[in-house]
Amino acid sequence: MDKLQIHGGTPLDGEVRISGAKNAALPIIAATLLAAEPVSVGNVPHLHDVTTMIELLAQMGVSITVDDKMRVEVDASTIHRYVAPYELVRTMRASIVVLGPLLARFGRADVSLPGGCAIGARPVNIHVAGLQAMGADIHIENGFIRARAERLRGARLVLETITVTGTENLLMAATLADGETVIENAAREPEVVDLANFLSALGAQIQGAGTDRIVVQGVEKLHGAHYDVVPDRIEAGTYLVAGAITGGRVRVKGAKAEHLDAVLAKLSEAGAQVTSGDTWIELDMRGRRPRAVDIRTAPYPAFPTDMQAQFAALNSVADGVSTVIETIFENRFMHMLEMRRLGADIRIEGSTAIIRGVPQLTAAPVMATDLRASASLVLAGLVAQGTTDVLRIYHIDRGYEAIEEKLGQLGARIKRTAG
Ligand code: EPU
Repeated sequence: MDKLQIHGGTPLDGEVRISGAKNAALPIIAATLLAAEPVSVGNVPHLHDVTTMIELLAQMGVSITVDDKMRVEVDASTIHRYVAPYELVRTMRASIVVLGPLLARFGRADVSLPGGCAIGARPVNIHVAGLQAMGADIHIENGFIRARAERLRGARLVLETITVTGTENLLMAATLADGETVIENAAREPEVVDLANFLSALGAQIQGAGTDRIVVQGVEKLHGAHYDVVPDRIEAGTYLVAGAITGGRVRVKGAKAEHLDAVLAKLSEAGAQVTSGDTWIELDMRGRRPRAVDIRTAPYPAFPTDMQAQFAALNSVADGVSTVIETIFENRFMHMLEMRRLGADIRIEGSTAIIRGVPQLTAAPVMATDLRASASLVLAGLVAQGTTDVLRIYHIDRGYEAIEEKLGQLGARIKRTAG
């Protein structure tokens, strides 16, 4: 298995281009199932999860091709299997986003029920209840969600908890339903908005995406279009933290500052100078040690759970004591235990971590159980004294395109090795 070897201590300096957003690309590729005509999607990141989604559609019989610029062309008319098998769903929970489109367009879907996950229980009851309220007949059988419907009908759905992929599944299903669907307590994440923009480009009638009330007028069918995926705010945020933690200067190109308000506010509070334009953000922390900042994760526009681990790394070398509170997932602190192996002073009480910044981390082999946790260990490795090996980096390859190349461009001493 590959690992990343990081020789810590170099302040990063330079610019890096941000890829398309994983968590927008995945539902958008799934949503191509809704279109009656061929669709093409650009700015798709070259990631393991994206390959899994492409494989998932391909095994349904969908014609799907990817060119060398990661432009994905999809023609769903050749579909003949309406199944998301366990072998793929267990490697990527986001496979659940094919449920809504399959059911809405083809009237049937057999999607393996995702099991537990390294960061929390992550049930899908809200996806299922919403589709049932739209008239679907759904049973859980042999580990599968078996869903059937003649034509879904519009309904008023009040989501019990804010859920990103839940909102996306119901939004996609509503585009072809009979009549009006109102999704209350909808997720407001930029990835939900990007999906809505994509669906609108196909002819869907959607209002209110980006607010907590999305209204969809169902249409008979959706047509073809080309669409480019929004830049990845979490990737951008991760590189900015890399600049901050190393006391360097990093400019992320192709990023949207308006999607990162809560994150940029915390970076400024940590002492960084943050400037931005329409398509870039720059962070300057040269000559300074970051100050500890308190973090509390919550749905967008509040501070994202997907940036919690990276800020834990930053706080572990910051001046002062901070609390990091995780409110979205019940088990998203595994990286804290690994950071302790690098010398971080972290105490965990339930969903709160109390981090006392230390002047210096020291290298050790570390590994993580999920994507963002792995990224945070890479960040910690960038400042640890000595050579840190980050193991199990297949987690990172699920969500960060060419991370060692991009960090290398910024001056980090990092390499991928086998074993
Ligand atoms: N929840 C329920 N029932 C449901 C659905 C969700 O109780 O039916 C709960 C979850 O257990 C969790 C909370 O609602 O406590 C929020 O989870 P959500 O459904 O929003 O998460 P998700 O849609 O499964 C997406 C991202 C995650 C990101 C979260 C939160 C994708 C493909 N994944 O997951 O991204 O952390 O939203 O913002 O969009 C990552 O990229 O590393 C990642 C984990």
